[in-house]
Amino acid sequence: MAGNSELPAQTLEGKVAIVTGSSRGLGAEMAMDLARRGANVVITYTSQSSESKAKQLVSDIKALSNSSEAISVRADMRDTSSPKVIVDATLKAFGPEIHVLVNNAGVALSKNLSEMSLPEDYDSVYEVNVRGVILLTQAVLPHLPPRSRIINISSVGARAGFAGVSLYTSSKAALEGLTRSWAGELGGNGTTVNAVAPGPVKSDMLDTIDPKIVKMQMDNTPVQKRVGTAEEVAGVVSWLAGPESAWVSGQVLCASGGWMMY
Ligand SMILES: NC(=O)c1ccc[n+]([C@@H]2O[C@H](COP(=O)([O-])OP(=O)(O)OC[C@H]3O[C@@H](n4cnc5c(N)ncnc54)[C@H](OP(=O)(O)O)[C@@H]3O)[C@@H](O)[C@H]2O)c1
Repeated sequence: MAGNSELPAQTLEGKVAIVTGSSRGLGAEMAMDLARRGANVVITYTSQSSESKAKQLVSDIKALSNSSEAISVRADMRDTSSPKVIVDATLKAFGPEIHVLVNNAGVALSKNLSEMSLPEDYDSVYEVNVRGVILLTQAVLPHLPPRSRIINISSVGARAGFAGVSLYTSSKAALEGLTRSWAGELGGNGTTVNAVAPGPVKSDMLDTIDPKIVKMQMDNTPVQKRVGTAEEVAGVVSWLAGPESAWVSGQVLCASGGWMMY
């Protein structure tokens, strides 16, 4: 996790940001990076075992030497009532406007088509990676002021055709479709909608992916033949959340060290 010694420019001072699935992994680093730039952050998590991590992150954010605040909310995105729980908690803590929504929470599943239990496996992935994103984004809409930012966390897998993870990769392809259509719908007041598609980054989720896929990606990554870091992805998200990205919308920005180049 990034330290507190030197804070970057406070480009997000006074902004309110929700980052789903931010108790650990990439989401935790995104929440911290947004807070380091001045945002007040809402951290969401699901499991009892993640509660202490979420609360520690809230403390770490409050301890930053700027005025950023944070709250944590337990909300499983499979539950269709969770979007209202998250939005209500956000408005109660930080007032009537939500400026940044990062749809980061996601689940992976490694199963070939022939092995899937359907429709259960489909539901287990799509309820979180697609339906939850649609429901939360719709719930946030009435509270978005002009020039808001919606950032959906996709994956290079959305366009890569990896074997054995088709429910995951197709859910991310759906997310990229939502990103483009919402960019078309919401741009009138300066709101932008973009996706960030990371390559492999060390996390609990990466540990569930076939190591052969990860090795193939590392071997073919132009930048230093390595996996990425959560900090490297968080920096891209924070840039999209900030004012410098105002003319970028409907894009999928790959953060993969050049493994994917389009
Ligand atoms: N790591 C990679 O290599 C990689 C690459 C490309 C894209 N991504 C994408 O980046 C995002 C974050 O991945 P990660 O690697 O950081 O994953 P992770 O380490 O597995 O963390 C997942 C986070 O999402 C939360 N979460 C899980 N199920 C949820 C649900 N049903 N409702 C709400 N939140 C839920 C978890 O909360 P709890 O702690 O409470 O379980 C946790 O905070 C995902 O969308 C993933 O697809 C990751």
